[in-house]
Amino acid sequence: MKIAFFDAKPYDRPAFDRYGRKYGAALKYLETRLTEDTADLAQGCDAVCVFVNDTVNAAVIDRLYRLGIKVLALRCAGFNNVDMKHAFGKIHVLRVPAYSPYAVAEHAMALLLTSVRRIHKAYNRTRDFNFSLSGLTGFDLHGKTVGVIGTGRIGRVFIDICLGFGMRVLAYDKFPSPNLDNGGTVRYVEPGELFSQSDIISLHCPLTNDTRHIIDESALEKCKRGVIILNTSRGALVDAEALLAGIKSRKVGAACLDVYEEESDLFFEDNSGHILEDDTLARLISMPNVIVTSHQAFLTEDALENIAETTMSNISGFFETNRCPNELCWRGGNAEDCRTGKCF
Ligand code: NAI
Repeated sequence: MKIAFFDAKPYDRPAFDRYGRKYGAALKYLETRLTEDTADLAQGCDAVCVFVNDTVNAAVIDRLYRLGIKVLALRCAGFNNVDMKHAFGKIHVLRVPAYSPYAVAEHAMALLLTSVRRIHKAYNRTRDFNFSLSGLTGFDLHGKTVGVIGTGRIGRVFIDICLGFGMRVLAYDKFPSPNLDNGGTVRYVEPGELFSQSDIISLHCPLTNDTRHIIDESALEKCKRGVIILNTSRGALVDAEALLAGIKSRKVGAACLDVYEEESDLFFEDNSGHILEDDTLARLISMPNVIVTSHQAFLTEDALENIAETTMSNISGFFETNRCPNELCWRGGNAEDCRTGKCF
């Protein structure tokens, strides 16, 4: 079993080497991303393994299909970069539905704490022996209201963390969880109430047609003055231009972004020697109340271990049985549910 592993980073290799040996797979690590121009590098392989910013559009799928690639294994949960409809009948798409909701939820809280307690400012100051406290006044999270959009695996862990801080949670989900709303510290509400009542809004839903730009100009208009926007989910959930305008007008008090709509040409790479062409991102980064991390919320040892284990077991299991519990169908659900008619 030979696997073309696109967008390989040094931190991917130790765990994938281990699980590659365990499942008897040869991994061909490729530093380049998967695109129409690089798809042919998968020649001679049985499967390709990709990450969030690889391009798996119709043209790439057709190329891989012609090369005889049977399996596309996503080493992530989100699959908005794959043309699922086009993949149907050509290539089986497998994913890692959950590898560590704690990694992402804890990173979201780390960003929030950094922002509200100005840790990023203090860190730079004390390195320069500047021990002044001016401008570092924060606020207590205890007693504040956090709006959580998406109450799946990560959203629920984030809610637990917030409850530990003594916060009140207003949640919105298209498919609410039956046992989450306790009528007190956690309540499901409609988006309008979430926007108008929350001091902090954290996004934990997938990127779909419904959720694209869920934080836009009209959503921000409904928000409290000084609202903090946290996005550790997918960049395009937030209209970056509207966010920038909200920050300039002081409507938005702070933003913490682990993801960005136009991140694919920038994130995960060292661009420190280059002129940043994206003026919106450059302006956001220049703001004292914006913290940007480059899609690192997943990056813990625990998560990398789980990603490698599930990805290799997905691929190996598929080639053995022609089935995989983590196969996706074109409607965005699970392929097994699709076969049995339970697909949503
Ligand atoms: P999940 O599938 O367990 O939960 C997603 C929740 O969003 C579900 O409860 C679903 O009902 C809800 N949802 C779906 N459509 C919605 C809509 N239109 N409005 C409101 N809610 C909606 O997914 P999980 O594991 O919690 O991941 C959430 C997201 O986190 C992923 O989609 C991915 O984009 C992002 N993520 C980011 C990472 C990072 O490193 N920054 C790493 C892993 C995931």
